[in-house]
Amino acid sequence: MKSTVPPERVAAAPPDLDLDPRALRAEVDRLRSDLGALESRHAELRRLASFPEQNPNLVIETDLHGQVTYLNPIARNRFPDLETLGFAHPLLCGITDCIGAFHAGERVIFTREARVGDAVFELKICQPPEGALARVFAHDITAMKRAEAAIEHLAEQRRRLAQRVLSAQEEERRRLSGELHDEAGQALTALKIGLELLRGEAIEAAPALVDDLSDVIDLVNTTRERLRGLAHDLRPPALDTLGLDAALEGFCRGYAGRVQLSLDYAGGAVPGIGDTQALCLYRFLQEALTNVARHAEASHVGVTLEADADEVCLTVTDDGCGFHVRDVGQRRTTSGIGLAGMRERLELVGGRMEIESGDGSGTRVSARVPRKIAP
Ligand SMILES: Nc1ncnc2c1ncn2[C@@H]1O[C@H](COP(=O)(O)OP(=O)(O)O)[C@@H](O)[C@H]1O
Ligand SMILES: [Mg+2]
Repeated sequence: MKSTVPPERVAAAPPDLDLDPRALRAEVDRLRSDLGALESRHAELRRLASFPEQNPNLVIETDLHGQVTYLNPIARNRFPDLETLGFAHPLLCGITDCIGAFHAGERVIFTREARVGDAVFELKICQPPEGALARVFAHDITAMKRAEAAIEHLAEQRRRLAQRVLSAQEEERRRLSGELHDEAGQALTALKIGLELLRGEAIEAAPALVDDLSDVIDLVNTTRERLRGLAHDLRPPALDTLGLDAALEGFCRGYAGRVQLSLDYAGGAVPGIGDTQALCLYRFLQEALTNVARHAEASHVGVTLEADADEVCLTVTDDGCGFHVRDVGQRRTTSGIGLAGMRERLELVGGRMEIESGDGSGTRVSARVPRKIAP
């Protein structure tokens, strides 16, 4: 409620009255009404004054020169030296620019953070309507900050762990791939040569066995091919020797042959891309094309690899049945690493995945990675 009576007017001596009863009555009426207004103003002020006192935050008022003019009990108990130190106190030392703005007549509520020892406070600094003052509400956010730091620490640990798991997985794949290619592959080649020799001898000695031996040799051949494909999938050798573009194109060619789908690849050399990023994009392509074969019922797939100075973007677009991204975007998959795994893997190298799809409108999945991981 607003008073219309300035306090100095009531405190002043009553005007010199000439004892005219009518004038006297009028003056008494006026004084009564002033008194009523003052009483409500007093009640209002008392109500307002009780706020800082009971406020669980620190409430501090200063003049515009840094002299503390009011501390609520919490502020007084917590920092008794505030009164003497004023703006030199660590809690207030960062607010001088706000005071400058108040001097310049700006009516803004500023937000600042202040550290006092181990404690962190969020400060709201405003200029109350009564003028040349600054009012500071300091809210202790130490616990919140600690929780945030703990969460950040855990997220970082999780990220490192996931990275270690990924590198261990890739290392194991590289080892398996080498073993399959070198050990098992060579053993099968030797087996094939042996069988061919046997077949040659069987033509004379046991012609009835020749057809059976030919079947076995075919089987060995197919197994050897499968093994080679598996070894390549596990660790694409082209990635190491020919680079990302050629490795992706090679994979696309092999894929198009296997699934009998029309596929266009448009890429280009991406010099200087990090190994981890290149491998990540390769895995992304494997997963995206496997999804097309498994789910899309598409007749055509387009794969593009584009790069600018900072980023490399690999996009797989099909004209298949599409799907509702929201329904499956986050869930873990039963087989392979799936879209969720891809997203996570890309994020680990500082990249991201984008999916556009809908009922019957085909699917476009993109992977963007920075050329180098930030240190
Ligand atoms: N290119 C696509 N076309 C149609 N549906 C797709 C395509 N890619 C993914 N999906 C849908 O998204 C789901 C999740 O894919 P993903 O995470 O790779 O798991 P998974 O392939 O093991 O089912 C698939 O089950 C499928 O329903
Ligand atoms: Mg999948």
